[in-house]
Amino acid sequence: MISEPASAFVPQPEDAPAAAADGFDLETRAFRRMIDARLARLIGPVGTGDLVREAMRTALLSPGKRLRPMMALLAARDLGADEAAVLDAGCALEMVHTASLILDDLPSMDDAALRRGQPAVHVRFGEDIAILASIGLLAQAFGTMTAVPRVTGDQRARLVAILSDTVGVNGLVGGQYADLRSGRDRTPADVAIANDRKTGSLFTAAIDSVCVISCSDDSCRRRLREFARELGQAFQILDDILDNTGDASLLGKDVDQDRDKATMIALVGVDGGRRRLAHHVSKAIGALKDQPRGAGRLGHLVRWVFGEAIEARRERVGEARAG
Ligand code: IPE
Ligand code: IPE
Ligand code: MG
Ligand code: MG
Ligand code: MG
Repeated sequence: MISEPASAFVPQPEDAPAAAADGFDLETRAFRRMIDARLARLIGPVGTGDLVREAMRTALLSPGKRLRPMMALLAARDLGADEAAVLDAGCALEMVHTASLILDDLPSMDDAALRRGQPAVHVRFGEDIAILASIGLLAQAFGTMTAVPRVTGDQRARLVAILSDTVGVNGLVGGQYADLRSGRDRTPADVAIANDRKTGSLFTAAIDSVCVISCSDDSCRRRLREFARELGQAFQILDDILDNTGDASLLGKDVDQDRDKATMIALVGVDGGRRRLAHHVSKAIGALKDQPRGAGRLGHLVRWVFGEAIEARRERVGEARAG
């Protein structure tokens, strides 16, 4: 069981009054509907017997939190960026994220059977289809990014470059490699680098994409990027705490998956992990201070991720089971 809500041990944004949080809740629900509808449209229908497309669609539309596109849309609203452009860029990132989860669950990687409350893709469709579906989603992510509407050709090229950095050896691929093959001899600093690559990279990609679309200046981009990196560190530590102490039926994915790995929790323990989590959340909130644009909704996002997200996940997993 989760012994206490994650929000009990992370500082909450001071500038998040209850009334604003209610508005935030409505906004995130509306964004979630937008994201889900756009993902369904982008992935398209499935023909009879087309198992790869069916696996891609099933994985992409399964009940994830949609955190990366959500972060992009929240920042976009604060920065005044074109939301149709940001929505598609965010959906491209969600495709990459889903592709990475399919691979992460494979027997040769984390060997997990449950994902988002449903059988992992390789369990339901077979390992061959899972690998192809992951590659298919990655390819479609690039296709989606090259077709982002209402931006210039130069902006599109920069968005695609962000995506390729995020996927490659300095991003997800490098982070997963470090995670799988670096053994248990890693230091906390080594793990932080791997977490930055495997988890932080998609959060920073969300911010970078919005900054490209909104033509934000360098200082704004630097601060929002720092926010995203700290959030990525905190997010992976929370995930590792839950892997250690959580319940698969509440989380919708297998737990105790990373017991043989040198995660931050393996190195510093659950209490040490909680202290680090609080530290990264504070730094994330600190990065938003004195940031005149793009900060308000991201502050609320911190609460959403580290408090309410756990409850929301519980409900969605319940719904997925019932459906
Ligand atoms: C899971 O990410 C992988 C990690 C980086 C820990 P999420 O917790 O955002 O997964 P979904 O998209 O909600 O399923
Ligand atoms: C994986 O981290 C992050 C990815 C890039 C997929 P985990 O292996 O801890 O993610 P979960 O717990 O399986 O979602
Ligand atoms: Mg993993
Ligand atoms: Mg895993
Ligand atoms: Mg995990």
